[in-house]
Formats: sequence, structure tokens, C-alpha cells
Amino acid sequence: MPVERIIDTVAHEDDRDEQAVEISLRPTSFAEYIGQERLKTNLKLAIDAAKKRGEAMDHVLLYGPPGLGKTTMAGIIAHEMGANLRITSGPAIEKAGDLASILTNLADGDVLFIDEIHRLRRAVEEILYSAMEDYKLDIVIGKGPAARSVRLDLPKFTIIGATTRTGSLAAPLRDRFGHQYRLEYYQGSEIQQIIERAARILDSKITPEASELLSARSRLTPRIANRLLKRVRDYADVNGDGIIDQPTTSRALELLDIDELGLDPADRNMLQLMIENYDDRPVGLTTIAALTGDEASTIEDFYEPYLMQLGLIERTPRGRRATMKAREHIRKQKD
Ligand code: ADE
Repeated sequence: MPVERIIDTVAHEDDRDEQAVEISLRPTSFAEYIGQERLKTNLKLAIDAAKKRGEAMDHVLLYGPPGLGKTTMAGIIAHEMGANLRITSGPAIEKAGDLASILTNLADGDVLFIDEIHRLRRAVEEILYSAMEDYKLDIVIGKGPAARSVRLDLPKFTIIGATTRTGSLAAPLRDRFGHQYRLEYYQGSEIQQIIERAARILDSKITPEASELLSARSRLTPRIANRLLKRVRDYADVNGDGIIDQPTTSRALELLDIDELGLDPADRNMLQLMIENYDDRPVGLTTIAALTGDEASTIEDFYEPYLMQLGLIERTPRGRRATMKAREHIRKQKD
């Protein structure tokens, strides 16, 4: 992302302390995890069945907008299976050999989490096919006429793949996941509970009115809810007695320039540019990207899912369209 935004759904990289706090806020068991009820029920069943049979669990594909808890869920699965968790990502595995070394270092039952699995290179992805299906690693040793291929046995592991887009996953890879689940946006009341739980862990006092207000601005996304909570807590610690109440929250959010729908200046700028230039006509993704100066993939993965969820943007066969609701919202902001 070109600019770091408070409402980013990616974990911010330049602040290790922040990440440490974020990790400590992560639930480690199903009992602590709020929301995604259908997913939890299905996964619990799969885990119980695998444990009863003494086998590794079938591979799991988690998809949906960023920040909804895919990594957290991988941690919970590993924890509930009593297994080790290894974390990597599609772009981090550069060569087939990198994947081969990760796989051969796993132990029976281990869970390997591959974030952004849609960004795996083709050559790497092909190694995964037999690894996932038969727990075999096909590698070629040597070069030229002396080259020969060998098949190594791998431990019985579970891959948890995460992606924001299932559409970009090759069918042969997608089909090798026995479990495929979409993480949904949370209910406002669930986000409020997540905020109250995080405040307890951070040892901060928050009033119900404040957690409700904060939840309404958190884009139905736990990662953003927790980040906003920490910013409001800073504000309350510096400008008040540390108690996070409604007026404090309201002032802190105003300072962060987050409006009542949870949109930040970058979201509003994008909507405004679409409206100014195209009014209610559809506009292509690359044109929007050129207008805002962002990558098309940033718009697709980070801005758009929530704006669509709110009904501010619609996808049409000829591009994206700002809705009447978007025009009203932007007009209201300017008044
Ligand atoms: N923190 C982040 N996501 C959470 C969730 N789903 N439940 C509880 N705490 C969380």
C-alpha cells in the first residue's frame, strides 16, 4: 500500500510493538473466538473427527476480505489439534526448493499456514499438488541427461491456505482443499464484544457507549477494531483519565478523520473522484486506480470489499459504479 492508513486491513510493518500487542489480542481457542459461527462449528467437527481417527486434518482453504481472522483461525486449528504451526506466504516461497525444504522439515500432524496462497508461483504450486494429495514430494536431482526424479515421503501435515480471492486460485489447487470456507464480515454486536474483550486484555476501561461507537467505525473488521481501540486508548491516556468513554472516543475518531461509516480520507477521495468524473456511470478498475494513484489490486483487495458491503459501490459488467448512497454520503461530508 502506498500510504499506511489507520483503517488498513494489512498488519502494519513498521511497528513491531504494535504487532506484538495485536498478536497477544488474538484468541487462541474456539472458546475465545467471537463470531464466524458456521466456520467454527464446521472446523470443530473436522478437528474432532481427525483427532478421533488419529489423522492429520484435511487441508483447509480460508478466503474472504483481509483482517477477518484467517491467520488467527489457523493458529486456533493448530492449537486445538495440539500441532505445531508454521507460517509462510505465497510471495515468500520463491523457488520450488524453498517449498521442498519447508515440507521436508515438517513433522507428522504439523499445520502449515500459507497466506496469500493465490500468489504462489506456478512451479511452486505444482510441487504442492502431490504433496497435498499423496504426501509425496517429487523432485528432480541433477541436470541434463544425468537428471533423475525421485519421490520422497512427506509427513502427514495439514495446509491452511488463505486468500482474499478464490477466483485467482488455479482449479487444481483449489480442488485439493477438503475444506473451503469464506470468512464473513462480522456483525456490529460481535465487533463490540471483540473490542470489549481486547480492552479487558489491555487493562483499559471502556464504556458500552464507547465500544458501540467504535464498533460502528471499524468496518466490521476485528483488525481495524483493535487498532482503533489502541488509538483511542492513547488519546484517553494522554487527554483524560484513561477511561474510554463516548465523548473521548468521538474526539479521537474525529482526529483520525474516520467518519460515521468507518471511511477514511482515502476511501472518500476515491468515491469523490468516481462521482466527479463518472457520476453514476460505471468505471473500470484500472481507471479508478489511475485516478487515485493506487494499484488496482489495492483497490480490489482493500478499499472495495467494504465499500461494496455497505452498498456504496456496485460491480457491473462494465466496471464499478458509485451508488446513490455513496453520492449522498459524500455530499453530506462536504456540508
Ligand atoms: N480478536 C480479533 N479477532 C477476534 C475474534 N474473532 N474474537 C475475539 N477476539 C478477536
